[in-house]
Amino acid sequence: MKKRVMTCSPGQTESLGRKLALRLRPGQVLTLQGDLGAGKTTFVRGLAGGLGLRRGATVSSPTFVIIHEYPTRVKLYHIDAYRLDPPGDQDLDLIGDCLRPDSIAVIEWPERIADLVPAEALRVRIRHLGGDRRAVEWEEPVSPGPKRSGR
Ligand SMILES: Nc1ncnc2c1ncn2[C@@H]1O[C@H](COP(=O)(O)OP(=O)(O)OP(=O)(O)O)[C@@H](O)[C@H]1O
Ligand SMILES: [Mg+2]
Repeated sequence: MKKRVMTCSPGQTESLGRKLALRLRPGQVLTLQGDLGAGKTTFVRGLAGGLGLRRGATVSSPTFVIIHEYPTRVKLYHIDAYRLDPPGDQDLDLIGDCLRPDSIAVIEWPERIADLVPAEALRVRIRHLGGDRRAVEWEEPVSPGPKRSGR
């Protein structure tokens, strides 16, 4: 089921990231698609906050270093593949090492490293709607529904 939430400010996009962080478990990969300035890093700021990153810690685009690592409750790797066009073997190895069962990874510009993204990744897209308006979309996993008791 496709989910779509409209936001009207950076703060609202951040809050949404904070909310979605609650459902992330160790080993989860989340990809973030959207144009330059769509709000991907803003969303990650919320995710990191929701995962326990202390207030005031810096969350910025890892465009030049490619990977940031945050000391959240479950370690969060923040990857920006924008400059990897195309990625070299060393880049792919470095990023591959961040996709670990005990950590969460969030990837901006996942289309650059599509082969590395696991099929079960949570794929989020942010669309710029003009001004401060954004649409944040993702595919909601279909829940199996309530368990029936065996009566
Ligand atoms: N509703 C909104 N949600 C998110 N950001 C918004 C919103 N309205 C305005 N902005 C502004 O848009 C910019 C988003 O920048 P951000 O670095 O999060 O984008 P990005 O998608 O990570 O870009 P890049 O691809 O360059 O890394 C910020 O300056 C933010 O203040
Ligand atoms: Mg960014």
